[in-house]
Amino acid sequence: KLEAKSEIMEGEGERPKPSHSFLPNLHYKHLIFIVIFVSFLIPLSCGKKEQVGYGYTIRYVGVGEYGKLMTADLQLIKTSSIYGPDIRNLILSASLETKDRFRIRITDSYSPRWEIPQEIIPRKTHFPNRSPPENYQPPLENHFLSSPNSDLIFTLRNTTPFGFSVARRSSGDVLFDASPDPSDSGTFLVFKDQYIQLSSSLPVHRSSLYGLGEHTKKNFKLEHNQTLTLWNADILSAYPDVNLYGSHPFYIDVRSPDSDARVPAGTTHGVLLLNSNGMDVIYSGDRITYKVIGGVLDLYFFAGPSPELVIQQYTELIGRPTPMPYWSFGFHQCQYGYENISDLESVVSGYAKARIPLEVMWTDIDYMDGYKDFTLDPINFPLDQMKKFVNTLHQNGKKYVLILDPGISVNKTYGTYIRGMQADVFIKRDGIPYLGESWPGPVYFPDFVNPVGEIFWGGEIKIFRDLLPFDGLWIDMNEISNLITSPPTPNSTLDDPPYKINNDGTQMPINNNTVPATSLHFGNITEYNAHNLYGLLESKVTNAALINVTGKRPFVLSRSTFVSSGKYAAHWTGDNAAKWDDLAYTIPAILNFGLFGIPMVGADICGFVGNTTEELCQRWIQLGAFYPFARDHSNKDSIRQELYVWDSVAASARKVLGLRYRLLPYFYTLMYEAHKKGTPIARPLFFSFHQDIKTYKINSQFLIGKGVMVSPVLQSGVVSVDAYLPAGNWFDLFNYSNSVSTEVGKYITLDAPPDHINVHVREGNILVMQGEGLTTQAARKTAFQLLVVVSYGGNCTGEVFLDNGEEVKMGGAGVGWSLVRFYGVVVGNYVTFVSDVVNGGFAVSQKWIIDKVTFIGLKKDRTLKGYELYTRMGTKSSAKSGIRTSSVGHGQFVI
Ligand code: NOJ
Repeated sequence: KLEAKSEIMEGEGERPKPSHSFLPNLHYKHLIFIVIFVSFLIPLSCGKKEQVGYGYTIRYVGVGEYGKLMTADLQLIKTSSIYGPDIRNLILSASLETKDRFRIRITDSYSPRWEIPQEIIPRKTHFPNRSPPENYQPPLENHFLSSPNSDLIFTLRNTTPFGFSVARRSSGDVLFDASPDPSDSGTFLVFKDQYIQLSSSLPVHRSSLYGLGEHTKKNFKLEHNQTLTLWNADILSAYPDVNLYGSHPFYIDVRSPDSDARVPAGTTHGVLLLNSNGMDVIYSGDRITYKVIGGVLDLYFFAGPSPELVIQQYTELIGRPTPMPYWSFGFHQCQYGYENISDLESVVSGYAKARIPLEVMWTDIDYMDGYKDFTLDPINFPLDQMKKFVNTLHQNGKKYVLILDPGISVNKTYGTYIRGMQADVFIKRDGIPYLGESWPGPVYFPDFVNPVGEIFWGGEIKIFRDLLPFDGLWIDMNEISNLITSPPTPNSTLDDPPYKINNDGTQMPINNNTVPATSLHFGNITEYNAHNLYGLLESKVTNAALINVTGKRPFVLSRSTFVSSGKYAAHWTGDNAAKWDDLAYTIPAILNFGLFGIPMVGADICGFVGNTTEELCQRWIQLGAFYPFARDHSNKDSIRQELYVWDSVAASARKVLGLRYRLLPYFYTLMYEAHKKGTPIARPLFFSFHQDIKTYKINSQFLIGKGVMVSPVLQSGVVSVDAYLPAGNWFDLFNYSNSVSTEVGKYITLDAPPDHINVHVREGNILVMQGEGLTTQAARKTAFQLLVVVSYGGNCTGEVFLDNGEEVKMGGAGVGWSLVRFYGVVVGNYVTFVSDVVNGGFAVSQKWIIDKVTFIGLKKDRTLKGYELYTRMGTKSSAKSGIRTSSVGHGQFVI
């Protein structure tokens, strides 16, 4: 019956019939008018017909794997020639992969299509890539897929055209509803070779969307009526809203309650479209529409229901963030334009003299000989002196990181080039290595899809590391950035696809300043398909190479990223401008990368392009000191902006970096949490307060972990901030007695004189801190201090992760580590702590001393009579006298 129906619809469609009753009475002039009128009507009526006609119907449906897998054969109802011919037969597979993860994949029934290879992003592959077997049954009703232990329920709608939805079983809330779109001729699914469209309606007043990067955005919550383009490009991040260096087709949707309050506020799910091709994502508010120029539709839904759980479930699929070494949480200094070694030395001594912490010195491309990777400028950065410089850094507990670009100079006297040619490792076009242009002039680009690429790159890193003992690597320009745009291959729909994504905000050709889409990687994979994966692949091989040469936990900073880059690298937000707007943009950018599973992220402190100012730099270090990754970096022709350049900036830097270094155990423990569960280090307020819908719109504040809130000044000349404080007691971390309390969340104006940033800790937290130091190594040698932020409503909790900070693995079997958890309960006039050591291996082999416990948040009318600490290992220490409200207790505890 259904097939018959679709055949009728595949015809031309009925045209309006002339009414014979009045036609004879008409004059010929009227006839001309009617002819014109009817000729307008015909296309209109056809268009109208298309509203219900275009799409696919279900031919067969099969359910397998004990109800966890459904496969449906889809057939095209009628064709449309825009953007190329339709693929007539599709196969839809739906599967409940875990109780919290649902996957829907739609692809061509008969011909395999490009999909991200398993070796790049491993995932389950039990989907049949062909038509279902003959014994499948024609569908009669709608089909459902769900399981009693899952909150997700999938419905395949047996309508014409068909549709599908994903909803919550608990509340009926529809999360994704792919069904005819009235605003676009009824079309919700289009499937062509180079154009795939899928759209879902959204409950406009209840949905708050975040993610879909990388873009510079004023607002963290995605605004309605915008196109988000994903195509990796070397575009200054100073330009808002255009596609930038990375692609992350992932969003989270934080829901506000529905009218009958069946959906609690903050109920969150996540959606990933796992596809590496260029795309536009159009978000109107009541719909989200993907327009993708290749690959397949591979959608994943993550049930949450909290934001934190969504990210846990997302990173379970794509891979948990790689652990970062302890030292990488120190302060980093870089500039493009350091002229020679004495320039570097003067920066190091400038920091020492100003007594501002400096952990890592960086060099940009200036250190290279003719901008060639793995070489040193023999005049300005000669090897013997560079070695001495790096050794001195190491002796003083500091580190050294250098930059690498992917373009290998085409130069027959250059070893790296020669070895690359011998290994046949470069990306090709028309059978020969593709010739691009970068800093050294003409270049070839190594192909990291090719297994030989990893060997080549790792080999070059080893040769260079044997000469110069760098500690980490910075991989830049890996979108791939190309200083030239090569002409397209004539008539190639790869170089010039039918649908133009909104590249650079102006539908620039996708080949613009990158490797042409017709270029080929290993296995004949086109650049068209693999373009967005380059930075991810380079991160992966660089991470492996560093482990190989150092034997230690690697630090890789990559500009270009894709889904799962966090498994290998940290990220910075690229080329921002030294402007106040850009300072503000860094908060949404950093929060987004937390959602994308790349928690180690920062922005160029004091700004990259243009000249910063004293005031801007002061405010920027106040904020930047709390980025997970804190690096000052600027452009070649920018004025110097090291933190000691201005006295006011230096004073602020000492203050805020002082607090950062005291919080290092906290940051590092958050790294551990990120590595184990995916939870971001820097988090939006709604991660801890998702029931509070006022937190959904906040762009200018964020949390570190669950309880430390940063509320910076983001404008010139301003000395106060209107900070949103979710309910509770909050204490200024610079001055504990400066507390603010709210019973319900509200905006409070906080003083923010030029030398102050508001950083608060919320009641209920126990912060495990250490003393200050000019390096992380020095700070790590100081005794621990516990800051117990008493909560009368409940327990206070905190934890600290301990290991040597550079072991390749963080936690897990075969390495020394400890996780110590603290619980505090106020009973009467006593506070009791219990500390619980999850893995005692590291703690017992070292002596970790807590020499100070500070209580804040005790009620004014109370005198704390004493406190006790019990540890799981049986040590009991107590101090029972003279501890007064908000005072400090003395005693020494050994964990
Ligand atoms: C572009 C990078 O984004 C920037 O940080 C770097 O300084 C320049 N390339 C020069 O290497």
